[in-house]
Parts: sequence; C-alpha cells; structure tokens
Amino acid sequence: MRVFESVAEYRAWRKLVGAERIGFVPTMGALHIGHQSLLERSVADNDVTVLSIYVNPTQFDNADDLNKYPDTLAQDLELAESLGVDVVIKPTYEQMYADDFRYLVDETHFSKELCGAHRDGHFTGVLTIVMKLLNLVKPHSAYFGEKDYQQLKLIRDMVAAFFMDVEIVGCPTVREPSGLAFSSRNLNLNAIGRKLAPSIYREISSDKSDSEVIAALTFEGFAVDYCETRYGRRFVAARVGEGAEEVRLIDNVPVTNVSAGN
Ligand code: PAF
Repeated sequence: MRVFESVAEYRAWRKLVGAERIGFVPTMGALHIGHQSLLERSVADNDVTVLSIYVNPTQFDNADDLNKYPDTLAQDLELAESLGVDVVIKPTYEQMYADDFRYLVDETHFSKELCGAHRDGHFTGVLTIVMKLLNLVKPHSAYFGEKDYQQLKLIRDMVAAFFMDVEIVGCPTVREPSGLAFSSRNLNLNAIGRKLAPSIYREISSDKSDSEVIAALTFEGFAVDYCETRYGRRFVAARVGEGAEEVRLIDNVPVTNVSAGN
C-alpha cells in the first residue's frame, strides 16, 4: 500500500495508471465497520482502490467538534492495508485549500434543510472538498454511506449538475446488533450516551409519527435537532450528553421500514 502525503506525488502516480478501474473512498479517518464496507465494495468492484484520510475543517461549523474529531491513524492504515487498499492520500490543508477556501461549491436548496438548517455552511464545506477530491483522485467510482443520506444525495446531484465523469455508489448503513449506526462519533459517547444511542434507530423505525419520535427521544434525554420525512426516508439528528461531552448523532431509514403514522 502506498501512502501519499503530497498531492503532487499522487498526481504523478495517477498519470501512470493505465486502463485500470479506480475506486475511491473519501473519509476523515477514524475508520469503522461502515467505512470497511465501503472499502470492501471498492476493492471488489475495481482494480485499484484509493482511500483519502482528510479531516476537512471547512465542513465543521463548530471548532470544538473539529478538535474532538477522533484520530486513529495507525489503526486506519492497518485496516486499509488488511482490506487490500492500494493507495492512501493524506493531504494537508495547504494542499487541499491553496485557494484558502475562496472557491466554494454552494447548493441552495436541500443543503439548507435537515442537517444544513442546524450546521451553517456544513454542506458547502462537504461539497467543496468532495469536488476537489474527485478532481484530484479521478476515480471511475466513488463510494459513500447511506448513513449520511443527505450528503450522498447532494453529492449525486452535484456530480450530475457539473457533468462530472464519476459514478457515485451509495452503500447501505452498517449497524451494531443494537441497531445503532456505526459512526466515528460513537467513539466520543460516554457510558450514558452509549446506552441511550440505540434508541435513535429504534424510534425512527417505529410506527410513530415524526413528532411522536421527537417527543419520545426528548423524553429519553436527547436534544433532538429534527426528525423529518423527505424523499421517502425518515431523517433524524439528536444530541446526547452535556457540554464538552455532547455528541451529535444522525440516522435515517427508508419509510417502508416505518409501518404507519407518517
Ligand atoms: O462523510 C465524510 O466522512 C465526509 O463528509 C467526506 C465525504 C469524507 C468529506 O469530508
């Protein structure tokens, strides 16, 4: 496995790739079983798999959240190698944002709803870095988890809007036996949060209405940012824990999982 910390070296390597199919999994590190499923799918579908590890500061609306983002680099590289990843790129801010974020990709509708309504500028940061990474890596296919369904849809729509020549592959959410979706943020849950967190999936999969789900999660001790049904899915974001220990979790399910009440 080759690890490139230099964008210039990656670009030189990319020029030498011939007809091989390239799959790409962009991440912010702290790899978990959800990422593992994306990497496995890419390794199975392509000749070469590229993984990026880059904690993108422009998508964090809150400095604490950025500082708390887990860093498990040694384990991440070990996992990537064991899964058959061929190339890792781990660029710096100066390399990814030589323009110092003067050029942005802004979406004006769906990115302002759901998580976008609670995290100012979040999706502008996501779309901008994903555009940069796709242009840099030049993959045939790129893999994203359905846990971040709003992100996945916005990226798909961006790729269509800008005639970008890459296939965006959405992969199913991977869950713990409790139903909790795997997320890098689960590492930051304290004992109480860990115990409460599986309620999120249980509630959104129930036959309760969106407002009943909000009431039930609030009663259990969550601060619910939203629970809304759009595009045939029910989306939720809820925070658990106090002050510096607060963790924000998101999830979504197809409404076919929801038996009634919507
Ligand atoms: O889903 C993520 O981890 C990030 O939003 C992504 C797509 C790697 C962009 O920074």
